[in-house]
Amino acid sequence: MLILEIRTEGDPVLRETAKPVKIIDGKMRDLARDMLETMYSAPGVGLAAPQVGIPVRLIVIDAGDGPRTLFNPEIVWRRGEAVDDEGCLSVPGMIGTVTRSAEVEVIAYDRDGKLVSVRGKGFLARILQHEIDHLDGVLYIDKAENVRPVEEECEESQCSEGD
Ligand code: NI
Repeated sequence: MLILEIRTEGDPVLRETAKPVKIIDGKMRDLARDMLETMYSAPGVGLAAPQVGIPVRLIVIDAGDGPRTLFNPEIVWRRGEAVDDEGCLSVPGMIGTVTRSAEVEVIAYDRDGKLVSVRGKGFLARILQHEIDHLDGVLYIDKAENVRPVEEECEESQCSEGD
């Protein structure tokens, strides 16, 4: 296992449109495994491949219910609106307030190449939208209001930083 270097804002790879994954082979599974390791060690709740310098459509997340690996994720349904703070491992030390869909359904391929559907609301919906944005070269700071340094109180509470 490997802890990968997380690219930060200003690195052009974060602004690329990531390429679809054509074949989920051992190399891709290894990348997903290393990304999960990197995410947990950060610590964070989500990571997209461009954040480790590889512009392919792969995200890993853990909204508190275990790891998920999603290749070529696509939002196929959304509902409602939710406003909350979020942060990003590629924009260290900052948080901002982002309006997103309250619920989403995502289809993707899992690490075995099986087509899966993930339907989520709240924290899970937010992470999914944040990570899928990374695949299109979008950072949360592009959409956020009131981007500001993380405060002590926030690090200890439920502020959803670190995805
Ligand atoms: Ni992020």
